[in-house]
Amino acid sequence: MSARLLNKRILLIVGGGIAAYKTPELVRQLVKEGADVQCLLSKSGSEFVTALTLASVSGNKVYQNLFDLTDETEMGHIQLSRNADLVLVAPATADLMAKMAQGFANDLASTALLATDKQVMIAPAMNVRMWLHDATQRNLETLKNDGIRIIDPNEGDMACGETGPGRMAEPVEIMEGVAAALMPQGSLKGLKALVTAGPTHEPIDPVRYIANRSSGKQGYAIAEALAALGAETLLVSGPVNLPDPEGVRVVRVETGRDMAAACDDALPSHIAVMTAAVADWRTTNTAKDKIKKQTDNSPPTLELTQNPDILADLTRHTHRPDLIVGFAAETDKVMKHAREKFARKGCDWLMANNVSPESGVMGGDFNTIHFLTQTSEESWEMLSKHDVAHRLAGKIAEYFSKTHPEQEVE
Ligand code: C5P
Repeated sequence: MSARLLNKRILLIVGGGIAAYKTPELVRQLVKEGADVQCLLSKSGSEFVTALTLASVSGNKVYQNLFDLTDETEMGHIQLSRNADLVLVAPATADLMAKMAQGFANDLASTALLATDKQVMIAPAMNVRMWLHDATQRNLETLKNDGIRIIDPNEGDMACGETGPGRMAEPVEIMEGVAAALMPQGSLKGLKALVTAGPTHEPIDPVRYIANRSSGKQGYAIAEALAALGAETLLVSGPVNLPDPEGVRVVRVETGRDMAAACDDALPSHIAVMTAAVADWRTTNTAKDKIKKQTDNSPPTLELTQNPDILADLTRHTHRPDLIVGFAAETDKVMKHAREKFARKGCDWLMANNVSPESGVMGGDFNTIHFLTQTSEESWEMLSKHDVAHRLAGKIAEYFSKTHPEQEVE
């Protein structure tokens, strides 16, 4: 089991909105990652979820009242807010956001938020009109400028019957946000990372090429997440429609052979994450001129040659990276094919996902990953590609903190 939040204390402030019903699951997710969660239940929050439920899932006392003498003697509100590594507000209602933006301190939640000296993260949830209202958007800007991290609400059907942005992010998304925020800055500092992404284009003639549906989104997100943890990151990208990720050096290529050469140039590297959907075949000879239709309508014959397998070659390279992560996009029997591929490729970890048309993930924003190592197997819940990237980057940081302890946290 991964435990990215081991020894981390989270103070969860539960605001008064219907989304509060998701907070026991949020607590469960945080606890599963090793966090010690203290809950502070607002009066209106207690209309939607009980203190008993939160105490049961967190295993800790739930704080409710600003003027509770027992609480004040056991742990005052100031100490409560400072004992945490991170203060999380979920759901953050329009009212609570307004109070935070203005610096009100007239109940336990707002007082703790004003008294804290720790990172604060909010997961807003409210009716779509309230969310889009100028006042809320103004408050949101103020909070962002104050350095508060925001887990944006999702779009969708709301309890009030309207549709649009305002639904609180799902517990797993909030937990991933917390885990990313608490990753020690610079935990991959001093390490080099190579990431491949996107499809390759294998020319048939000057106007046509062989390609695939890879969007590059997952690889771009991974490169950004590794760079955010301090790795010196090079992204070798096939043709995609994405801006360069922040803090990453990007080399753009067209063909599998160009990608292989760019990867070779990038060695030595400590980390390699190969997400590119490199075309398996290229035409043996690229026609110099556009291939014309035949008068008898007979189709041309394309002779194909296998492209270099960049991942497999990397695993046998004299400058083999310390940690090589491969991807396996499968449309059927995902685990069986992934295990076979894992054995064949010689990488250290494999991220397998289902890209069958029914699952609709190729090119989409979400991924359902089966994470394989030589000795273990984890099935991740469906996550945004951004969250997959941060989870993987966290695992990579954890791996290097064990194998290269001197690289650990500043
Ligand atoms: O064999 P398959 O294409 O399914 O393997 C997928 C994994 O291998 C991915 O990590 C992909 O980036 C990598 N790969 C590669 N070079 C190829 C084919 C795949 O690096 N020519």
